[in-house]
Order: sequence, then C-alpha cells, then structure tokens
Amino acid sequence: MDARRTVRAPRPNPGRRSEAIWSRARAIAVLDDPGRPAREDPGALWDLAGIGPGMTIADVGAGTGFYAFPASERVGPSGRVYAVDRSPELVALVRARARERRRRNLIAVRSRPARIPLPDAVADRVLLANVLHGIPPATVREAVRLLRPGGRLIDVDWAKRPTPNGPPVAHRLSVAEARRTLAAHGLRPGAAHDLGPEHYVLVAEQPLGPGHRRAASPGPPRRVPTRPA
Ligand SMILES: C[S@@+](CC[C@H](N)C(=O)[O-])C[C@H]1O[C@@H](n2cnc3c(N)ncnc32)[C@H](O)[C@@H]1O
Repeated sequence: MDARRTVRAPRPNPGRRSEAIWSRARAIAVLDDPGRPAREDPGALWDLAGIGPGMTIADVGAGTGFYAFPASERVGPSGRVYAVDRSPELVALVRARARERRRRNLIAVRSRPARIPLPDAVADRVLLANVLHGIPPATVREAVRLLRPGGRLIDVDWAKRPTPNGPPVAHRLSVAEARRTLAAHGLRPGAAHDLGPEHYVLVAEQPLGPGHRRAASPGPPRRVPTRPA
C-alpha cells in the first residue's frame, strides 16, 4: 500500500494532545540524564534494527541527539544520519554538537508537523524514539514517506505500564496500539522486543513496491541535500 494514499490513519494516541515542542532546558534536563543509557541503551538497537555501516537513518523527533549521535558512529563516514526535530532550539543544539564533535555525517533538520524537508525514500531506517505516542498522523505519514521500499521504521517507546520514568501511562501506546498505527500507515510491523526495563522496540517494514527486488546490502548513500532548509 502506498502510505501517501493513506488518508484516514488514526491519531497514534487519541487520548493525548500532540507532543509539544521541547525547550532546550527541558530537553537537556530530561533527555541528557546521565542515568539514561543504563535504562535505555541505543547500542542495543543496532542488531535488532539491522543498522550498519553505510546506511542512511532519519531520526524523527531527535531531541538532543541521544540516539542520533551513537547512530552516526554506527553508520560511519559512508553513512548519514538526519536528526529531525520541530524545535528550532534543539536543531541548533544538535547542529552545534555535531560541529564540536566533528560528526560530518550528522545533519540537523528542522521540520514542521506535516512537513519534513527531506526527499521521499531517502532513508534505510527511520527511528521514532519516544515520540510515536505524541505525534500527529501527519508526522507519522512524513516519517513513513522518508523510508525506502524494504526499509524499516524503528519505534522505541515507553512500555504501557507504570515505570519510574516517562510520561503518564495514559499517554503511552501499547505495542498493539503502536502496531495498529504503523499498519494504518502502510507498514508491516514485526516482532516487539524489550529495550531495557521501561521500553519496547517495534520494527516495521516498508513493503517493497511492485518491480522492486530486495537489496542484499543497503548500497551507497544517496545524493541528497546536506543542508536542508
Ligand atoms: C520525548 S522527546 C524524544 C527525543 C529523542 N528521540 C530521545 O529519545 O531522546 C520528543 C522530541 O520530539 C520532538 N517533536 C515533538 N513533536 C514533533 C513533531 N511533530 N515532529 C518532529 N519532532 C517533534 C520534540 O521537540 C522533542 O525533541
């Protein structure tokens, strides 16, 4: 199914208003918490998500780059990570960090809820980390548009039960709800796994279109703008 033709996808979480733009101060306090990697290790994702050297990753709702920076290390100099966020402050923060850390393969991109300024099918993997429960269908649609045929969306989100950290349980999506949301956008959700004590990972594949053959490897990075507007 062509995700762009999916016009009536449900809100990811009807009981929840859209995720607000995160301020720099709130993001640094919460997302850069030094205790976080012990509870939610980005390195545990790579094998689950099949992320390796040379790939292009779009991290939508990237925040301070908690996942985007380790991902840029994982894909290496021949790969690329787009750290997409609607918060201009966080885009500026990630851009400055990428410069300081000399991560030339990490590009910060400012989005709007219904528009991510990147081409169709640009990414081998799209990462939604702690965002699906709070974003509108228009952003999910945009995230899916970025995936190449056969590419995978990686949804990391809070388990729907009380945990010491995280949003109120009523704001969270169960695995079944996340699966339904992604399927409504044309993806094929697979198995879910635990990621630490508070999160799950759900991997969903963008079906191959007619005439596409499954690639043996991700292939070289595509030529796309390095400084999107
Ligand atoms: C809970 S934080 C998660 C940040 C990061 N993924 C992480 O796990 O550390 C949610 C992020 O999504 C961003 N955001 C909220 N709504 C968005 C949307 N519609 N499109 C893009 N980014 C969005 C916020 O500005 C914030 O940085």
